[in-house]
Amino acid sequence: MNITVIGTGYVGLVSGICYAELGNHVVCVDKDLAKVETLQNGGIPIYEPGLQELSVKNMAAGRLSFTSDLNQAVKQSDLVILAVGTPSLPSGEANLSYIDQAAAEIAQAMNGYKIIAVKSTVPVGTNERVRNLIRSRTMERFDSISLPEFLREGSAVQDTLHPDRIVIGADSQSAVETIVELHRPLTDQIVVTDIRSAEMLKYASNAFLATKISFINEIANICEKVGADVTRVAEGMGYDKRIGPAFLKAGIGYGGSCFPKDTRALIQIAGHVDYEFKLLRAVVEVNQDQRMSVIRKLETIFDGELQGKTFAVWGLAFKPNTDDVRESPALEIIQYLVRSGAYVKAYDPIAIRNFQSMYGNNGVMWCDDALEAATGADALCLLTEWDEFVHMDLKMLQTILKKPILIDGRNVFKEDDLAETSFIYYSIGRPR
Ligand code: UGA
Repeated sequence: MNITVIGTGYVGLVSGICYAELGNHVVCVDKDLAKVETLQNGGIPIYEPGLQELSVKNMAAGRLSFTSDLNQAVKQSDLVILAVGTPSLPSGEANLSYIDQAAAEIAQAMNGYKIIAVKSTVPVGTNERVRNLIRSRTMERFDSISLPEFLREGSAVQDTLHPDRIVIGADSQSAVETIVELHRPLTDQIVVTDIRSAEMLKYASNAFLATKISFINEIANICEKVGADVTRVAEGMGYDKRIGPAFLKAGIGYGGSCFPKDTRALIQIAGHVDYEFKLLRAVVEVNQDQRMSVIRKLETIFDGELQGKTFAVWGLAFKPNTDDVRESPALEIIQYLVRSGAYVKAYDPIAIRNFQSMYGNNGVMWCDDALEAATGADALCLLTEWDEFVHMDLKMLQTILKKPILIDGRNVFKEDDLAETSFIYYSIGRPR
């Protein structure tokens, strides 16, 4: 197929490159000229394992190109996929201005029948909004479909090429057949629904996963008080097929560009139809509070006196294998420490630069390696479970800290790892 993907953020870029890998001719469009130039030169503006190799390979095969010329790209395509951002407005609602703008530009470029698919996460009714907008500006025939995306950052290529399912929301049988054919090489698990259900399904999936995380974090908080171990509790729960083991890792809460935004948006969507989504409100509130569990532990250890102390922070990305720092729990934790008069020495293998541009410089010393950050610190806070932290030599680590105090916000270390060390060790929801 000839495909145009509009927007080269996470979703657009990964999907575009993977559709090319399946043998389609794909043009990825973005307004950001610098980004387009980077992509044309074989670069990738995000850190995502395996993506650059696939991009270079498919460009060389003549199946993949990057441009800022939306009009030309759309004219050459049978399928146009919108993958532009839908960031949160201050109210929590999704901002649809990029969607509207792209739809207006597609309408202008229409030169014959096309399928217009929305891959961006959008509130229920947005596909109809796009359809009406295009229909009001062109006489050309087209079908609109909802094609939500379920990839995770850090394993985006794997998730796209080996998805659990493909969801297609459509009201045209011929469009469904075309889109099913396109995805057939990826999976047999293709769910076809009406458009509104597909839009809802995406939010419901993210909200449910966020709920699992907040649930296990609350269980962890109770475990701490009753002397139980949340990792054993979650393991035992996960063997029950009805519960499943995924997304039951207790920690300092979820971050990233999806769960925080999509949970807030679903609360708003419900609100617009006079429904108060009480459970999801609680999920968001629990998540917000969970970030502070690291601070509460430090305050207990240092009798509430954080001023003048130096804290090492390991991990700034919202999760490992990504340089994305959006809504990373590290932000609020570091801000709190600095506001309390503490010094912070921070390290992340990939995300420092992105974190710096979000945070600024106030009160933080940025370190080039993990040991530099830990040296001389009163305590170490592990906030992202990067592999290099997991494999750290703890005996050596305790000698370079001023005090061997370790707050493990991701439950990375096990009892055995700590044996023969004198660490004062706090994790989330575990006795030690
Ligand atoms: C999430 C969903 O998992 C994807 O299916 C979805 O496509 C994507 O949002 C999206 O809507 O675009 P992502 O945000 O990349 O993907 O990352 P996740 O792996 O889901 O992790 C989200 C957050 O939850 C991270 O901060 C992670 O540390 C946290 N988490 C995850 C936990 O605290 N515990 C867990 O057990 C799992």
